[in-house]
Amino acid sequence: MFPLNAWYAAAWEQEVGRTLTARTICGRQVVLYRTEGGEVAALADACWHRLVPLSMGRLDGDNVVCGYHGIAYDPRGRCAFMPSQETINPSASVQSFPTVSRYRLVWVWLGDPNLADPAKLPDLHWASDPAWAGGGETLHVDCDYRLVLDNLMDLTHETYLHSNSIGNDAVAETPFSVSHTDDKVVLTRWMLGIEPPPAWDAELKWRFPDYDGPVDRWQIITWQAPSTITIDVGVAKAGTGAPQGDRSQGVTGQVLDMITPETDRSCHYFWLRMRDYNLDDEDYTAAMVRAVHGIFNEDAEMLNAQQKAIEAHPGYDFYNLNIDAGGMWVRRLIDRLVAAEADLVGERALAERG
Ligand code: FES
Ligand SMILES: [Fe+2]
Repeated sequence: MFPLNAWYAAAWEQEVGRTLTARTICGRQVVLYRTEGGEVAALADACWHRLVPLSMGRLDGDNVVCGYHGIAYDPRGRCAFMPSQETINPSASVQSFPTVSRYRLVWVWLGDPNLADPAKLPDLHWASDPAWAGGGETLHVDCDYRLVLDNLMDLTHETYLHSNSIGNDAVAETPFSVSHTDDKVVLTRWMLGIEPPPAWDAELKWRFPDYDGPVDRWQIITWQAPSTITIDVGVAKAGTGAPQGDRSQGVTGQVLDMITPETDRSCHYFWLRMRDYNLDDEDYTAAMVRAVHGIFNEDAEMLNAQQKAIEAHPGYDFYNLNIDAGGMWVRRLIDRLVAAEADLVGERALAERG
């Protein structure tokens, strides 16, 4: 079960054009395309007539033409043409979903369209702010999307899984704090006066090539319901005031993670790695994307294996350690969202019955 009254990242903006793109989101088959005016349309990818995927058809202007018998649908999903008959059956339509393009991504709302307010998008302003530069990609992971959320809410795993790049003993040794509201969980960890791991040593040297001393390192992880996690990361010369807010002697990154369930055992993991320095250097961006690609593939390999292990042990309840506090809150709040949506549906059904 997924919360459906939420925006989910469906595709990068450049992925959606004048061809039909099929994507499964929260178990629903959706077809995406751009109208001649540039708007993104999202329709249920199943023809009203005989259910074949509309994504196997073609575009005719702003309409999708089913590839089997030619029924055409407009961008709102209403039937615009039926073969061999002049009258159109009034029930002929497919579901259409609200979309919005922001932060380099196309977002789709699968739940009650009356609640689809763009103000409910997660805050990812770094993706489109000229004071930040960076890039990213999509990782397809064969696991329950909540395993990715667990992974990102607990960066202790860097020490063990990413020891060649961003992990070192300081991560696992340093305590953290967790706070939450109804739709946010924030986990903060400051590692003061430590030796930087290799990847962060290299980043700090871009700004301070001669600095070889200890650093203050931070990881401030924010989950925004239902499945976006932003991680404010960075290092500064130790003792220069970063914990108090002065990051002028350091470098800051933002890891933006948009995890969209595909099925209950697979997900689309869109990510961006932004930085606040060396903004015009595209080669540097490409190198950073390659580096993060390597790190996240270490995660994906572990998560794919974890999903298989879960399926091999039906009914097994996870044990929880202190390090799981952030992920446990995320799961609890997702469960509450799903339950609240079910209550809403139940209340409406009762009201309709009178
Ligand atoms: S299945 Fe689409 S028109 Fe027949
Ligand atoms: Fe990781």
